Amino acid sequence: MNRYPDMAAVELRERLARHLGVTAAEVAVGPGSVGVLQQIITGLCDAGDEVVFAWRSFEAYPILVELAGARPVRIPLADAEGHDLDAMAAAVTARTKVILLCTPNNPTGVPISHDRLEAFLQTVRSDVLVVIDEAYVEYADGGSGPDSLALYRRFPNVCVLRTFSKAYGLAGLRVGYAVAAPAIAEGLHRTALPFAVSALAQKAAIASLDAGEEMEARVAAVRQERSRMAAELEAQGWKMQPSQGNFLWIRADEDLLTRLVDAFDRAGIMVRAYQGDGVRITVADPASNDRVLRLLQAHAA
Ligand SMILES: Cc1ncc(COP(=O)(O)O)c(C=O)c1O
Repeated sequence: MNRYPDMAAVELRERLARHLGVTAAEVAVGPGSVGVLQQIITGLCDAGDEVVFAWRSFEAYPILVELAGARPVRIPLADAEGHDLDAMAAAVTARTKVILLCTPNNPTGVPISHDRLEAFLQTVRSDVLVVIDEAYVEYADGGSGPDSLALYRRFPNVCVLRTFSKAYGLAGLRVGYAVAAPAIAEGLHRTALPFAVSALAQKAAIASLDAGEEMEARVAAVRQERSRMAAELEAQGWKMQPSQGNFLWIRADEDLLTRLVDAFDRAGIMVRAYQGDGVRITVADPASNDRVLRLLQAHAA
């Protein structure tokens, strides 16, 4: 650790390129996908420019946009908790530089379908970068979300963001990446904080790709528990959209949210509450999940 890491992360980018079926020139890595996203927004936006995204979604989006001096344009989720792509397309103005799409969406778990996303991309100006944030993609059932790399090949203004933090379990090591047109990836190399991805993180990411079967097995276990919990919660009377992430989403008004937060707090179970919207519960091991199910049973309608 006394040595600087490979600033260009050549070995990792080449390994990712093989894994994804692209070239290393189309891959840029950073300290987590949120690090890469910050570079994208800061690099593309001047003061007063606009970034369109769904809300509620990943809470870092408005923070990164405002840090860049740009204006966040939040488009409320549609009825079934999905992105309202028509409203997002209608919100694009001459100042729009970036559109952020999150699939499956954090915190609702709802994916964007391939066909809807393809139709959306056909309507977006080619000088607006459309970032598809797929932090949780490994947890999604095949075919539930878009084939984002196929869309990237067709639409050069698409950039796909992925991470080793979630399914690969390396959140603390900080490594994520973008797949983007070579000119954009090159811009990301030039504007990167030097040496932001440690040698340990680079090596661990490569080892994780080599251990893909282990990741698949862990993800399969999460999916199985996700289905079990969703079925049980539905039987308890909770109304939920199917989640494709490693979490479940319960929409809750102020009163319900206060009761749930209090109950989880007293039980020593950490969940993520979003004031005015609902609560996100991470799918964990079966015993912990059973505790969550018992707790929610007491609050079911
Ligand atoms: C949708 C989404 N994107 C990106 C990230 C950032 O992940 P990381 O920076 O660890 O790759 C998160 C983390 O919570 C997330 O939920």
